[in-house]
Amino acid sequence: MLNHWCQVRFASTSSASSNAFQAALQSRATLASLSLFTAGSIAWYTHLYGTLPFIGEVHASGSHLSDEGLHPAAYPWSHKGLFDTFDHASLRRGYQVYREVCAACHSLDRIAWRNLVGVSHTADEARAMAEEVEYEDGPNGEGEMFQRPGKLADYMPRAYPNEEAARAGNAGALPPDLSLIVKARHGGADYIFSLLTGYIDPPAGVEIRDGMNYNPYFPGGAISMARVLFDGLVEYEDGTPATTSQMAKDVVTFLNWAAEPEHDERKKIGIKAVILFSTLTLISLYVKRFKWAPIKTRKIFYNPPVDKHH
Ligand code: HEC
Repeated sequence: MLNHWCQVRFASTSSASSNAFQAALQSRATLASLSLFTAGSIAWYTHLYGTLPFIGEVHASGSHLSDEGLHPAAYPWSHKGLFDTFDHASLRRGYQVYREVCAACHSLDRIAWRNLVGVSHTADEARAMAEEVEYEDGPNGEGEMFQRPGKLADYMPRAYPNEEAARAGNAGALPPDLSLIVKARHGGADYIFSLLTGYIDPPAGVEIRDGMNYNPYFPGGAISMARVLFDGLVEYEDGTPATTSQMAKDVVTFLNWAAEPEHDERKKIGIKAVILFSTLTLISLYVKRFKWAPIKTRKIFYNPPVDKHH
């Protein structure tokens, strides 16, 4: 009897709902709004992200794959792994390359002399380097600006006083500030290393304007910056041979530090957090099982009441 009632109930509910579903599917309004919703989602997604993920990029005639630049190889940076910090000897050499080569054109606005202390130089070394540079300060008691030697709190001096001067000195192209360049470019350190070491002659059929240089890693292939690193350009104080790739690696490590000065500390804290939180998780798992043990292992009996009437 109970079974029968159940079946009837079940059959009737299911058929009612499928009827309603079919009716909804057949309704034009539902179909129209579903299509609108799909088209709208696709439009919104492509507006946000450019293309759909499963459709390959379509290149209109006239554009070329080289417009995006050659994809750089993934290099085994010594600070790449989860447990790795920067190679500080490399940071020191990298600073030297930045100072002696790149600083002629590129600023490093977000780094102050004091930032180098304990990273690549001692406080005395950094102070001595700062004092070699004249900074404008003031006004003094007479309202005049004056020049004074740099202090640890001063920021890295700029190559050019303003953007116009920088463009004028580089045939119209602006050498970007290098403080955050590692984060500001696709491929990060790999890209900048490839760019610095990737200058080659343009392949047959590729025309490069006068004053431009061919570099397959640079989007478009033609870059205003000429090759700047050549074997033996700087002399490292630690005796490391200054090959082109060695200098590129050191300066990119340095620029990576400039973009992420918190890098070493971040990884150290991260590891501490993982150790701490996994210990806490284990302890809480144990405590939970301990507390629940009496409940999970109890045995529940049902003693039917003894019928006293019969
Ligand atoms: C003679 C001046 C000069 C020197 C020296 C120089 N650069 Fe440049 N750099 C430029 C100019 C100009 C540009 C802009 C190029 C462009 O937009 O076509 C540039 C662009 C760059 C870019 C940006 C590329 C991009 O994807 O937009 C990086 C990174 C860079 N330089 C790194 C360096 C490093 C590292 C050094 C030192 C090893 C260095 N440069 C030395 C002039 C210079």
